[in-house]
This record gives sequence, structure tokens and C-alpha cells, in this order.
Amino acid sequence: MDRIRIVGGRKLEGTIPISGAKNAALPLMIASMLTADRLTLKNVPNLADVNLLARILRNHGVDLAVDGKRPGGSAHLGETFHLTARDIVDTTAPYEMVSRMRASFWVLGPLIARMGVAKVSLPGGCAIGTRPVDLHLQGLKALGAEIDIDRGYVLARAPKGLHGARIIFPKVSVGATHNVLLAAALAKGETVIENAAREPEVGDVADCLVKMGVRIGGIGTSTLRIQGRDRLEGAVHTVLPDRIEAGTFAMATAATGGDVTLAGARGHDLSTALDAIRRVGAEVTESDDAIRVVRNGAGLEPISIETQPFPGFPTDLQAQLMALMTRARGTSVIRETIFENRFMHVQELARLGADIQLHGDTATIKGVKALQGAPVMATDLRASVSLVIAALTAEGETTINRVYHLDRGFERLEEKLSRCGADIERLTAS
Ligand code: UD1
Repeated sequence: MDRIRIVGGRKLEGTIPISGAKNAALPLMIASMLTADRLTLKNVPNLADVNLLARILRNHGVDLAVDGKRPGGSAHLGETFHLTARDIVDTTAPYEMVSRMRASFWVLGPLIARMGVAKVSLPGGCAIGTRPVDLHLQGLKALGAEIDIDRGYVLARAPKGLHGARIIFPKVSVGATHNVLLAAALAKGETVIENAAREPEVGDVADCLVKMGVRIGGIGTSTLRIQGRDRLEGAVHTVLPDRIEAGTFAMATAATGGDVTLAGARGHDLSTALDAIRRVGAEVTESDDAIRVVRNGAGLEPISIETQPFPGFPTDLQAQLMALMTRARGTSVIRETIFENRFMHVQELARLGADIQLHGDTATIKGVKALQGAPVMATDLRASVSLVIAALTAEGETTINRVYHLDRGFERLEEKLSRCGADIERLTAS
């Protein structure tokens, strides 16, 4: 198994190209199942999760061709995927695949909408909480799907096809919003989703569906109005930049000090996190197609934050913020309100010398003068990158084990950081 070795203490200086967003690329790829025509997606990041979903989609009969990068092309424009689901040959998404990545459960909506039948394993993904799927099923039932759970599988049928409905989600769920939005695109009549997730990745999927011929009102708000169509067309769409990757490198720069430009990042998708970074003492400037983060030597101020659905502070940046706060001048408080078990990074950060107390959903972080390098273990995607941030500031050498978690969501992480001066390398298992 690969490991990452980091020697801390270097400032970050330079430009980091931000990749396409994993959390948009995945549902956009799934949207290809809604049409027999070709969906072309540009700026798709090269990540383990994307490659796994490509295998799952191929299993259903989706044809995928990948363009190479054009010579002279921009370094942060990722791959171009051409996806064509002329025939769906298999309506089953098996346990072996869905258990490895939760987002693959979102094939359920498109399969029922297009084929009237689906058998999809209950999902897996990062072990950060119980992560039920009741909201997904509530929404799809409202659209007319008959659903049974049998031996770990969701069995869904819509013998008369799906129809529009008004769905009020009792809780904001990104995945349930995607699943219902995708299904509603092929349902008869209008679907209204109330209390929909407002994450930019949901907006990106809605924008793509509009290009495929669906009329959608309220994009970017918590009420989506979707006019379903019998048949959708192909489209060309560019995946939006990854706000979590951008936020991660912004926090890494605030932690190490230095001056980094995040090329391609969109500040308005990240305003709560950028405000937090400003409050702790880094300078953040935003332009149309970049964010610049500068910190010159001054100490970090403590902060109190709780995670919230968009536009609040993202749970996907909670672990990274905690790594940053381990060296603040005072005590910070972070409350995790989205996932009950998303603190697995705490004990690993403690191995580097962090002083963190956990009480239920709240972590209290007392800033320490210095962290010391040590061997640590990556436990989930965002937790593992928080260890990278901590290691970049620690004295001496840190080795991070189980970095396959990082490869699920961060494209060329070591390369991007080492180009900005970090002492970081991948130790490949022989
Ligand atoms: C997505 C993101 C993930 C992010 C999360 C919250 C992708 C691929 N993943 O995950 O990176 O951390 O949004 O921003 O985009 N819930 C229910 N019932 C359901 C569904 C969810 O109770 O049917 C709960 C979950 O347990 C959790 C909360 O709702 O407590 C939010 O989960 P949700 O927004 O659905 O997260 P995901 O879509 O899994």
C-alpha cells in the first residue's frame, strides 16, 4: 500500500491549479444514463472514485470514451469524458461496487426513471456516520416508485412510469436531492423539491440537465421546480471547479504561511470557508478565476465554527480547519452537525502533538506551539488530507499510511504541493 512522506516546516509559494469537482463529476456522469444520446463532460478529475463509477456505469451499458489532454491545454482542465447510454443492458448495481462508493447509489433514480425497474445495493462510502438512504427512498416513492428492501438491496419498480410530485425533505441531503432531481428529469409533469440541497454541485447537475432539455426553476435555491421530459438530449458540459480542494489548499497555505494562488477556484462557492480563513489571520483575495491566500509569519487566531449545509461551513472542510487550528494562539471550538462520526482525524492529529478534546459533536482544540512528525493513518477522504496539512507544519517527518483514501478525492496532491515548495513524496509499495 502506498504511503506519503512529508517533512514539515516549509512555506507554500506558487500556483495550484484546481481540478474539476469530484462531487459534481460523479452525479454528472450518472446523468448520462438519462439519455441515449452522448453526454460530453469536460474537466473531469482523474480520481479513484471517478474511475470506479466509470466501471459501474459500463456495467449498466454506458459507453465511455476518454479524450487525452490536448498539447498546450490548460494544466487544470482535466479529462474529457464522452458517455453514451444507448441501451441500459443491466439494471442491477451490485454490492461489490456500490459498497465501495456511496455516490454510486444515485444510479437508482435514473434507472427507475428510464427503465422502470432497478436493483441497487445499499451504499457504502467513507465510514463517517450511519448515512441512511430514507430521504432518497421517500423522494422516489413520491414520484411513483414502488420500493422494497431485500437482503441489502433496494428493489424499485415503476410499472406506470414516474410522475411529478411535491417533495418536502425534512432534512437537507445532497445525495437525495441528486437522486430525485435526476429521476424527476424523466418523470411526467412537474416535480417540486422543497428544502433541496443548495450545494454548487447540485446547481451544476441542474445546469447540465437544462442543457439536456429539462426545464428547471430555482437552481441554486432550496426550491427546485423540474418539468420532466419523455426524452432527453445529449449535451456538452464542463464540471465546475472543486471548492473542497480549493478550500483545502487555502487552509494548507494558512497553516504553513506563504503565498499561493488557487487557479480556477471560485470564491463565491467557498465564501464561509474563506471568511473563516480570514478570521484566523490569513489574507484572502478573490478574482474571477482565482483565489490568492497569503500569510506572513503572524500567528493564527482561534475560531468557533459549526458545519452546516451550503452556504454554511462545509463538513468536507471540517477536518482541514481542525488541522489548521491545532497551532492557533488559543482555544478553538468546532461543532460537526452533519455527520455524527466525522472526528476520526482527532486521534491521528493527537499523534502529531495536537491537543483536542471531544465531547459528542464538539471538538475543543487548544493551540500548541508546535506539532511533531510521526507515523499516522488515513481513515477517510477528508480526514487524510487534514493529516497532510498538519504534517506540512510539523517539525520533522510524518508518514501517512493508507493514502488510497486521498486518491479517492484529490488529484495529483503530492505534485501540486511539491511544486509550491512542500517536501512531500509518495512511497509506492513494491
Ligand atoms: C455528500 C457529499 C459529501 C458531503 C455531504 C454533505 C458527494 C459525493 N458526497 O454526501 O462529500 O460530506 O454531501 O455535504 O457529493 N441523510 C439521511 N437520510 C438520507 C440521506 C442523508 O438522514 O436519506 C443524512 C446523512 O446521514 C447526513 C446528512 O443527511 O447526516 C447529510 O447527508 P447527505 O447530504 O445526503 O450526504 P451525501 O450525499 O452522502
